[in-house]
This record gives sequence, C-alpha cells and structure tokens, in this order.
Amino acid sequence: MAEPAKLYFSYNDIHKTVKTLASKIKKSGYDPQFMVAIGTGGFIPARILKTFLDKPIYTVGISYYDHENKPKDSPQKIQWIDEVEKKLQGKKILLVDEVDDSRATLEYCLRELLKHEPAEIAVAVLHNKRKEKHGNIPKDIDHYFAGKELEDIWVCYPWDADDIEFQDRMTEH
Ligand code: G4P
Ligand code: MG
Repeated sequence: MAEPAKLYFSYNDIHKTVKTLASKIKKSGYDPQFMVAIGTGGFIPARILKTFLDKPIYTVGISYYDHENKPKDSPQKIQWIDEVEKKLQGKKILLVDEVDDSRATLEYCLRELLKHEPAEIAVAVLHNKRKEKHGNIPKDIDHYFAGKELEDIWVCYPWDADDIEFQDRMTEH
C-alpha cells in the first residue's frame, strides 16, 4: 500500500511562515498583551512569533491521552496556567498553536480561556488544514490568523525529525 502523502517543512520554512503570520496579525491592528502557547506543538511557533511581536509567552499543555497512553474522548489539561488565569481578565490574548487540524484542541482551549473573561482572544496557527472540522471557534472570537492554508495532508515538522538532514532533503520543494 502506498504511504499517505506527507508534507515536510524545514526550520527556515517555519520561520518564514511565522513572519507571514506576524505581518497578518500586525496588519489587522490586533495588539495582544501576551501569547498563550498550546504545548507542545505551539511552543516553537510562539517563540519565533516573539521575535516579530515581542510579547511574553505563557504555556498550557493539552493532551488526548491519559497517563497510560490511552486516548480519551476529549482533550484534557495536563498543565495549566493556574496563577496566570487570574491575569487573563480584561486582557488581549493571542492563542498560538502549530496546526488547526480537527479544531478540537483549539475549541477546548478557547472555551477554557474565555471562562476567565479576557477582553479578547485571537487565534494564530502556522497551518490551517482545509477540511471538515470537529471543533468550532466560539463566536466571540473575532480574529483568526493562519500563516498558510493547506490541504488535508500530514505535516512533518522539523522539531519532530529524528534525522534533520533527511528532513531538509525532503523539504527541497
Ligand atoms: P487542533 O485542535 O489544533 O486542530 O488539533 P487536534 O486536536 O485536531 O490535533 C491532535 C494532535 O494531532 C495535536 O497534537 C496536533 O498537533 C496533531 N496534529 C494534527 N495534524 C498534524 C500534522 O499534520 N502533523 C503533525 N506533526 N501533528 C499534527 P497534540 O496532541 O497537541 O500533541 P503535540 O504534538 O502538540 O504535543
Ligand atoms: Mg499540539
């Protein structure tokens, strides 16, 4: 059976996509007070975004798997910003992740963060896959930014590479 199609990106590709994403955010006039990065995929994109937006980063960890590695029906918090939750009220936040796939994680995070009455939350993802989504972006979210729109294909990120030279060869598009 043929391997499903995969799309490889290098660190350079990612950096450039983050730069595009940052200019979309700036152009919109949305000026967040801080970022919330969804771990672990959102960590590196958020750090690169900081180069362009210069905003502090808080992080949250969400997982679909329990401690025995069994999948759960819905995302669960594995690490959360308990202290920071108090700081969300009245603030403008930028929620950052690497990919908008099913949208389930994004919806879960947005709903949790909205409970703490921020002034506004915007979503920023490197890649949005054009596909039927299982999650919804709540209607009180005014801004959604994607660095790039992709077909429904499996993306191989450089930070997941076992062999970075192989990764780079695969990205020579
Ligand atoms: P979404 O709300 O952002 O659409 O995420 P969804 O719950 O659908 O994604 C489930 C997990 O699958 C996430 O990882 C997401 O990063 C990962 N994922 C989805 N599509 C791709 C892809 O094309 N390539 C790669 N490499 N990962 C993908 P997670 O459980 O949050 O784990 P982590 O990797 O972020 O730690
Ligand atoms: Mg993730």
